[in-house]
Amino acid sequence: MKTRRILVLHGPNLNMLGTREPGHYGHRTLAEIDQALIALGDQLGAEVVSFQSNHEGELVGHIQQAALAPEAQRADGILINPAAYTHTSIALRDALLATKIPFVEVHLSNVHRREDFRHKSMLADVALAVIAGFGPASYTLALRGLIELLSSQQGA
Ligand code: DQA
Repeated sequence: MKTRRILVLHGPNLNMLGTREPGHYGHRTLAEIDQALIALGDQLGAEVVSFQSNHEGELVGHIQQAALAPEAQRADGILINPAAYTHTSIALRDALLATKIPFVEVHLSNVHRREDFRHKSMLADVALAVIAGFGPASYTLALRGLIELLSSQQGA
């Protein structure tokens, strides 16, 4: 089976996980979440590469690179927790549409149980899937789902 390459993108303030609003986001650090994704990727035959930024343009740059890089470094799929940019960023939406790389939108918290402004996503209607509300397990569930969908679409 081909090794898949999955890019995991984390948006602003997710570097603060562990201490940031644990009632919403739990106690796990971003490094622990990334480690769990790498370990799961190993089991599922996927190489997982993660990147966090507090800057919209850097996230756009990484999305573009995922498509423009030489073949061996291109991403087959993207997991993205755009954090607050979920609710505002046409630039992230356009970048993901431009690359045509299938992506899953991930949230630790159930954004639909929170403030009204978190109910709107600029990405959800162009995502393969959206997973929210499982805490850090949102990421691992999303990775499993994304790899399964890629396998069924492309023939494992
Ligand atoms: C979040 C939800 C967003 O509304 C918020 O701005 C975040 C994190 C989540 O993972 O639950 O920073 O994306």
